[in-house]
Amino acid sequence: MLRRLIFNLWYFRKPPWDGGVSPPELLEFIKTYPAGSAIDLGCGTGTNVITLARAGWQATGVDFASKAIRIARQKLKKENIHADLHIGDVTKLESITDQYDLALDIGCFHSLPQYGRRDYLTQLNRILVPNGYWLLYSFLNPNTIPSTPGLAEAEIDTISSQFKLLSRQNGFEKRERPSAWFLFQKML
Ligand SMILES: C[S@@+](CC[C@H](N)C(=O)[O-])C[C@H]1O[C@@H](n2cnc3c(N)ncnc32)[C@H](O)[C@@H]1O
Repeated sequence: MLRRLIFNLWYFRKPPWDGGVSPPELLEFIKTYPAGSAIDLGCGTGTNVITLARAGWQATGVDFASKAIRIARQKLKKENIHADLHIGDVTKLESITDQYDLALDIGCFHSLPQYGRRDYLTQLNRILVPNGYWLLYSFLNPNTIPSTPGLAEAEIDTISSQFKLLSRQNGFEKRERPSAWFLFQKML
């Protein structure tokens, strides 16, 4: 699949999003909620998997870019950290049978085509425990009609009918593109 190939190629260089530092929003979440099990959807080279594991979370990462997962495995080994890493598609999650207290997504969901987002949300519902959290960072799409890339307001409304929106923090990414952090909770 073309998207997988393009993402994989990025990881043969240093992709612009791979700064190697976890964002304050994740650190704040870790400070606020007790450690449990977490899965990073579209985990890239594992920076946030490592942060979660260091903070006492039982951490898992999934990414379809095999090169990213290879780098993540090297980083974990170097730091002597244990976490599960899977090469897999977040819209299918075939190898994921457990349920998690937290699903983290920094920049993956917003890159999916519409049909992929639907499948992702079905999987998310399956792999989260009741009341589990979904911490999402996404670009925003100013158009009123949902389309790739970014999240449109109508789409956020649709998601909020399936997952309870606990908080939202609007901002801008490096290139001044509108973006937001969302904290959703799976409804019972
Ligand atoms: C912008 S990067 C962010 C990576 C990481 N979350 C971070 O903050 O460094 C998006 C990631 O999502 C992954 N990705 C995109 N679509 C995916 C899919 N359908 N299944 C699994 N991973 C996917 C890409 O390979 C890439 O690593």
